[in-house]
Amino acid sequence: MCRSTVGGLLVVCALAACAPEEPLPRAVAGGTPSPQAAVGGGTDWHVALPEHAPGRFGFGTAATEDRVALWDIDVKPDGEGLPPGSGSVAEGQAVYEAHCLQCHGPTGTEGPNDRLVSPGPWEQWPAGRTVGGYWPYATTLYDYTRKAMPQATPGTLSDDDVYAVVAYVLHLGGLVPADAVLDAASLAAVEMPYRDRFVPDDRTGGPEIR
Ligand code: HEC
Repeated sequence: MCRSTVGGLLVVCALAACAPEEPLPRAVAGGTPSPQAAVGGGTDWHVALPEHAPGRFGFGTAATEDRVALWDIDVKPDGEGLPPGSGSVAEGQAVYEAHCLQCHGPTGTEGPNDRLVSPGPWEQWPAGRTVGGYWPYATTLYDYTRKAMPQATPGTLSDDDVYAVVAYVLHLGGLVPADAVLDAASLAAVEMPYRDRFVPDDRTGGPEIR
């Protein structure tokens, strides 16, 4: 359903199947439902467009599968959704120095933005939100980095570059060796120290929840 009325306003979504096939019916100003507003083969809904509104707006195009695929890039904790490709720690160092270092520091600890690496072994770090000291899945690091980093230009790294820089960040945190090469299978197999520190929240809601 592409058109609906919310609070008397016409809502037209701009995605696939939303370019109306038939002109939008005119309606009575002020939102009063009008029998004249309903046109075209038994349509029985009414809209509140002003009289001078165009018959159709003519913007928006159907979303193609290719365009939808560009947005459909979620990676699940078990690795489902990871793209083909791979990257090494060494390659990742070059990506990091070009695209991450200025905000996260030479070793991932200096900032000025978020610390990525705990300053010591993760056991000694009380749940600072670093990659090794908080993140339960390495796959999520891929998902996050691909979608959100570099912060000013997210989406600019290739899939291989993301594998590489994730490998490097994990290596900075002592979580993979210097010769690691990560792809969909090996990334999903990385055991993060904090994985078991999270428990499923199966509360049902109600007074037992504090
Ligand atoms: C322009 C500055 C900037 C650049 C460049 C940048 N980041 Fe970030 N990064 C940030 C900021 C700011 C945050 C915190 C974002 C938030 O909390 O919403 C962040 C958060 C992160 C986090 C989450 C940290 C945590 O555990 O909470 C990771 C991982 C990360 N960045 C990785 C990277 C990688 C990898 C690169 C390079 C490809 C990169 N960043 C480049 C600014 C930057």
